[in-house]
Amino acid sequence: MSGFLDARDIRRDFQIGDRSLPVLRGVDLSVEPGDVVAIVGPSGAGKSTFLHILGLLDRPTSGSVMFKGQAYSDLGDRERARMRNSTFSFVFQFYHLLPELTALENALMPVMIQSSILAWPVLRGEARRKARELLERMGMGERLHHVPGRLSGGERQRVAIARALMTSPEVVFCDEPTGNLDTVTSQEIQDLLWSLAEEKCTTFVMVTHEPSLARRAHRVVRMVDGLIVDGEVPPTTGAAVPPASAPSPSPNA
Ligand SMILES: Nc1ncnc2c1ncn2[C@@H]1O[C@H](COP(=O)(O)OP(=O)(O)OP(=O)(O)O)[C@@H](O)[C@H]1O
Ligand SMILES: [Mg+2]
Repeated sequence: MSGFLDARDIRRDFQIGDRSLPVLRGVDLSVEPGDVVAIVGPSGAGKSTFLHILGLLDRPTSGSVMFKGQAYSDLGDRERARMRNSTFSFVFQFYHLLPELTALENALMPVMIQSSILAWPVLRGEARRKARELLERMGMGERLHHVPGRLSGGERQRVAIARALMTSPEVVFCDEPTGNLDTVTSQEIQDLLWSLAEEKCTTFVMVTHEPSLARRAHRVVRMVDGLIVDGEVPPTTGAAVPPASAPSPSPNA
């Protein structure tokens, strides 16, 4: 147990007609503050399902998740929503930006949601300054007022990353953050994620098929058929990723 983010014996069954499909079959994971953990494994292994449970987007059928000593099962709906919006943040493969809002407005969304209607006029100036600064840091200074439809995939993901960092979250959950990008853009986004993780000492839990992204994590955990397994994935089911026992010791390596 790390005392930071701990998942114990997580099970998740999905109901398909009258059948119950066990997708997670007893998953344990401890994440330390500042950790960058990569979750790898074959398609359908349950990686996204697990990430959604860790990030309060879904509830397990059984098992417990604790964040800083607080059990998720003890949280009310308001508290869950608050944590999902400001303590945690998410970067998805398909960006999930609002199409009618500009890059700057998309980045501002989490702060707007967090703020009350009365407080927003006071917070807005500072929030815009922070969003602008983050987007400029991402090389998006010339694209602040473009809607997502006028941005490339890599640019959209930069906006999604800026949005994810706006609330200075304690944990960023990423699900295939480079899965929809060409190799060069994927590398740029990986470099960006790494420099941000290091600079802000933010905890990252990321699901990825990308060997080069997994290799740079502090820790790699491998999921197969709803369980975390140690060592190599059998070649019939496994993705070409480094062994869980031998990740790079340093994100700079
Ligand atoms: N809401 C749902 N209802 C029913 N089955 C689901 C649901 N969500 C996921 N599943 C099933 O659970 C299994 C695991 O899905 P999950 O998306 O977690 O896999 P994954 O490891 O993220 O795969 P990929 O690498 O392809 O994204 C799959 O068989 C999927 O069809
Ligand atoms: Mg998935």
